[in-house]
Amino acid sequence: MLKERQGSSNKAINIGLLGFGTVAGGVYRILKERGKEITSMLSAPVEIKKIFTRGSRNLFPESAKSLAVKDFGDILNDRDIDIIIELIGGINPAKEYIIKAIESGKSIITANKALLAEYSEEIFKLCLKNNVHIGFEAAVGGGIPILRSIKNGLAGDSIRSVYSIINGTSNYILSKMTKEGGKFNEILKKAQEKGYAESDPSLDINGVDSAHKLVILGRLAFSASISMEDVIIEGIKDISQLDINFSKELGYIIKLLGILKNEDSKIEIRVHPTLIPSSSLIANVDGVFNAFFLNAGYAGPLSFTGYGAGSLPTASAVIGDLIEIAGKLIHNDKHHDLILSEKFNKIRIKKKKDIISRYYLRFSAADRPGVLAKISGILGGHSISIASMIQKGRQVKGSVSIVITTHEANEDELLNSIKECDGLDVVSAKTVVLRIEDIEDKL
Ligand code: HSE
Repeated sequence: MLKERQGSSNKAINIGLLGFGTVAGGVYRILKERGKEITSMLSAPVEIKKIFTRGSRNLFPESAKSLAVKDFGDILNDRDIDIIIELIGGINPAKEYIIKAIESGKSIITANKALLAEYSEEIFKLCLKNNVHIGFEAAVGGGIPILRSIKNGLAGDSIRSVYSIINGTSNYILSKMTKEGGKFNEILKKAQEKGYAESDPSLDINGVDSAHKLVILGRLAFSASISMEDVIIEGIKDISQLDINFSKELGYIIKLLGILKNEDSKIEIRVHPTLIPSSSLIANVDGVFNAFFLNAGYAGPLSFTGYGAGSLPTASAVIGDLIEIAGKLIHNDKHHDLILSEKFNKIRIKKKKDIISRYYLRFSAADRPGVLAKISGILGGHSISIASMIQKGRQVKGSVSIVITTHEANEDELLNSIKECDGLDVVSAKTVVLRIEDIEDKL
């Protein structure tokens, strides 16, 4: 049973805000601008009572300065604070603050994807034990209400697959390289200047930020216990202009996708650069936009696109959680959110070696008679069937690019065949291997 809120139902809901960076600034602004509407919606005011930040207070508007406290304990021990909004990010000290807050009976709203991907099971258990609510819509897809749509709108449906773009920084870099060309590091710098990248941008580039979000999404979509160790993660740092150009020629665009698939309770969960048909909807989601293309058993295909980061879009998701949780507290709604339930479906996570996919292969090989026969012979020997081949130019002495796409093949066989090819004396560099997904998301 959830804790009874003391006092009249129109008593203010008080918030303790942890952190005052880009997103917290947006939360503060929306509450200022929409305070009257929110109060009338809930029949009680929702107010930020205290703000704790260890960082600089440069971003504090004049009106917020009096709310600043020096110590987390000032918020934790304030019995009038009902909800804590954690916008510090990272594991420590956010985890410690959230656990202490839950244990002292305060509900939580957080945008902390890294923390939830690693510790949500522990945190949810604690919420159940201490009868508090938790909201984390802002952790995945910024301003896109994707978690709420899965949790509520699709609660009775069965989700078969999700293709997602969940890292704006990577999508910005790949879109720029595809549309305008340019150097990876210079484009990354621009993404950082725009304020989308993580404080450690390697998390954006190496796919870990996408994996954090995909784990949270997967748990909700499949009611399954999924952890970071289950995710196949490959980032975009080795994607070259050459591969982008060859892909275009083949009718594909390269995107960093977060993919979830559920076939007969065998789940695939992977983040990697993927060739997708340039005519598909998701291939046309560019720049810092995020996107989710779901295939649900009953609702059919569904698509969501929008800002996956940024102050006001992410703050909008936080405010959505705030209104939901404040409403529950005001009306003493004792129902736990179903996502906190530990009743997980029985699933098996597919191992990398068992994945079946189509592949894009770029060999760097000598331009001599018989080279292609050797490569195709090795592929054939591993039951890998060739779908198309491109070779351009002529290099009497050096090497040329030979691009091959395959029909569906088993990943283990494919990687063994590439190992063999890379051992040939006519192959001069490590072969590039990318997966192809022939997504049919046209409406
Ligand atoms: N670094 C993330 C991105 C921010 O680029 O999408 C939102 O989580």
